Amino acid sequence: MTTALCPGSFDPVTNGHVDIIERSARHFEDVIVAVIRNPQKTQSLFSLEERQEMLHEVTAHLGNVKIDFFKGLLVDYARDRGASAIVKGLRAVSDFDIELQMAQMNQRLSGIDTFFLGSSPRHSFLSSSLVREVARFGGDVSSMVPAVVATRLAERFGDPPATEGE
Ligand code: PNS
Repeated sequence: MTTALCPGSFDPVTNGHVDIIERSARHFEDVIVAVIRNPQKTQSLFSLEERQEMLHEVTAHLGNVKIDFFKGLLVDYARDRGASAIVKGLRAVSDFDIELQMAQMNQRLSGIDTFFLGSSPRHSFLSSSLVREVARFGGDVSSMVPAVVATRLAERFGDPPATEGE
């Protein structure tokens, strides 16, 4: 049984993430979407529970995918769960430097290999941080995130403020 991890912050999950998770589920027997408890990059917009709930909904059609969370080192979590692979999406060359470095570090620490999937060109510009920013200022992100996420973003930020005199 080969278990693969799809780790990330998922704040929130985007269509790009869903694409990578779906494709991982075709290649590995078991996939665990591992949500980091405290993302370091930003103060998270959604709580761990909210991020997990959205992931549950958008992966409900995938029988071999589970959602879990981790804290600390990813490789320690991978060892605990018996995972022998990490899957990451690569959007552009700019992702490559940091992702290669992390893959090499994780390999050195644990022997666990990282597999890279090239993101679909439809999603190659997408990131959770850009989605958050666009949604915060009232931009339409409905084609970039699953419907459940678009609804949560609209609830979080409300309708864009009406501009007086326009
Ligand atoms: O969605 P993100 O924020 O790009 O995900 C990054 C994540 C969570 C996969 C990465 O930061 C991570 O693995 N953090 C866990 C801590 C760890 O193992 N650090 C060493 C990486 S070489």
